Amino acid sequence: MARQITLIPGDGIGPEVADATVRAVEAAGASIEWERVEAGEHALAEYGRLIPDEVYASLEATRIGLKGPTATPIAGGHQSINVALRKKLGLYVNFRPVRMLPGLKTRYCDVPLDMVIFRENTEDLYAGLEHEIIPGVVESLKIITHNASMRIARASFEYARHEGRSKVTAIHKANIMKLSDGLFLKCCREVSAEFPEIDYQELIVDNACMQLVMRPEKFDILVMPNLYGDIISDLAAGLVGGLGIVPGANMGDHHAIFEAVHGTAPDIAGKGLANPTALMQSAVLMLEHIGEREPAARLQAALRQVYAAGEHLTGDVGGRASTAEFTDAVIAEIARVREPAEVGD
Ligand code: NAI
Repeated sequence: MARQITLIPGDGIGPEVADATVRAVEAAGASIEWERVEAGEHALAEYGRLIPDEVYASLEATRIGLKGPTATPIAGGHQSINVALRKKLGLYVNFRPVRMLPGLKTRYCDVPLDMVIFRENTEDLYAGLEHEIIPGVVESLKIITHNASMRIARASFEYARHEGRSKVTAIHKANIMKLSDGLFLKCCREVSAEFPEIDYQELIVDNACMQLVMRPEKFDILVMPNLYGDIISDLAAGLVGGLGIVPGANMGDHHAIFEAVHGTAPDIAGKGLANPTALMQSAVLMLEHIGEREPAARLQAALRQVYAAGEHLTGDVGGRASTAEFTDAVIAEIARVREPAEVGD
């Protein structure tokens, strides 16, 4: 029976990369029935709400979403869609594997990189608790709790153990924010004691940025509060070829939403130029999560092969192909690998 998945195409380049990803996932042989719902600017214009109720209803039913980027109006009192979904569904882990693709020459890195970012996803300055005390003075509250810090620390160490990884680095600014980041670190230390086989290291966030640029190959698993995770993810994406590449997953105990790190890219939206790799790689994570291992492996292998060949890449990674041409190349590669097996069945 086909597995139902909520598809939120989103805004800007979202629908372009979502359509490309749906084509590639179907070509890879996954048995999926998509439940397509709108959130974001489209939804606001059409239904008067950034997140209509049917989005929550669909995610409640399917428990799994594949999401394109969504725009949140900067002014006007709207809460970010991502923040709202993460809070409502308890998606406390933001999981972002940052890996090099074969053949891709990036400006900053000529060593193979394979690091995984665990970003706390529900609190910190993203709590959205801001107010004006007196005209000209505003306050933004940074919330760090024992509960949320323990959950994200444990998720990172459990992943490290499960995947046979060797090191977890906690990133913080506890020298200045002694109470809040201090609590985060205390939790990471407490959890690290339960995983003696895994090296545990701490780095102050500014130093971590410099080390990531100078010696990125030294990093393995990184765990950090929400805002540092947002910034470090983009920095790390830049090391492996940019935002068009890096996938992500927002996971909780009962739900998961898979989405790329990048935003709506308004500068290239509607032009057929967007790189769908990041959402396709997010779909690979999703397929693995729901147990569709063979389609996941096929799609990942096809992506690697298209990058290794280097003939049909999009402009952001140095090629000249459109979104459609890149997607056709991925699908052709999947078909090339699948055909002999099917003939033999
Ligand atoms: P952005 O990620 O949309 O764009 C940054 C740069 O990267 C742009 O030059 C863009 O063209 C390029 N880029 C991003 N993804 C690409 C892709 N797949 N292929 C080729 N080039 C790509 O970041 P920006 O401009 O800061 O944000 C634009 C909007 O996106 C804002 O409204 C923001 O709130 C929203 N956003 C939404 C996210 C989400 O829904 N997950 C995440 C980040 C931002």
